[in-house]
Amino acid sequence: MLEDKFGRRFHYLRLSITDVCNFSCNYCLPDGYQCDSSRDFLTLDEIRHITQAFARLGTSKIRITGGEPSLRKDLTDIISICANTPGIEQVALTTNGFRLKRDISQWKNAGLDAINVSVDSLDPRQFADITGQNKLAIILEGVEQALEAGVKVKINSILLKQYNHNQFDTFLNWVKHQPLTLRFIELMQTGDNQAYFDANHFSGMPLKNRLLQQGWSQIIRDKAAGPAQEFHHPDYAGRVGLIMPYSKDFCASCNRLRISSTGKLHLCLFAEQGLDLRSLIHAGDQQALQNELINLLGNKEATHWLQDGFTGATKNLAMLGG
Ligand code: 5AD
Ligand code: SF4
Repeated sequence: MLEDKFGRRFHYLRLSITDVCNFSCNYCLPDGYQCDSSRDFLTLDEIRHITQAFARLGTSKIRITGGEPSLRKDLTDIISICANTPGIEQVALTTNGFRLKRDISQWKNAGLDAINVSVDSLDPRQFADITGQNKLAIILEGVEQALEAGVKVKINSILLKQYNHNQFDTFLNWVKHQPLTLRFIELMQTGDNQAYFDANHFSGMPLKNRLLQQGWSQIIRDKAAGPAQEFHHPDYAGRVGLIMPYSKDFCASCNRLRISSTGKLHLCLFAEQGLDLRSLIHAGDQQALQNELINLLGNKEATHWLQDGFTGATKNLAMLGG
């Protein structure tokens, strides 16, 4: 099992397969995707190698992320490689949802268990304002289809002071009858979004207090479950989660490592740099790759330095997939 010097265990890999995105969420890629980096993304063979190395070190869950992963034509093959790797028990996908309706049954058949879909507003105009894409309706149809297909669905919603914080009740009504998990995520500062962050960051704490006042109870989660706080209510089919990266002890429950779309290991979303694994992958020596992963994990720090404004190498989250 991959374990760091703070006793945290890493059974969860976030694998980015592209940094290209067709949306221009104003907190992430306000000017859309800029082709200023190489597009030499991990190949299927490289993905197979990495997945195997992590699985042999105890990884049981993989989340495929981006950019927008469904922009890769071989996404279904990637899902299938992950799902068929011995030791991998759960394969999840983070997506903006624009291909859900068309492709979800294909992904499910390839072995996909769960999806996180970004829906920052349930008002179509506000949704288009935030994402640059007028696609709310088709995304919501895709979500329905995913639920019908038996795929677990979480909705990611970034809390934005100037946009959606007054939509909270609309979101809650949605999960009254739908077995979804809503995840409200505090906006994180990245290298590129300082002014936007200052204008829009909104703490999750008032929402937590409101939930508790309205009869929601916090679910005691396993230490291995990661940093989200989750709540349930007897009258609601769905759940609500809060992700508050600026809160105390957020990093104590970190259970994930990240691989960028060009094969770099990121020990934290906000690490100073990615650590290149490609030459080792190409050498084809599985044991050497596993040893290097164990070795590099020795450098994982106790926490991020976000509260002090240090965002590391992360210009935006399309680079690494959140
Ligand atoms: N802060 C918090 N979440 C972000 N995401 C993208 N950029 C940020 C940010 N600056 C979210 C997306 C998506 C997930 C991959 O990361 O909305 O749900
Ligand atoms: Fe694309 Fe996701 Fe960034 Fe939005 S948040 S621009 S969907 S990568």
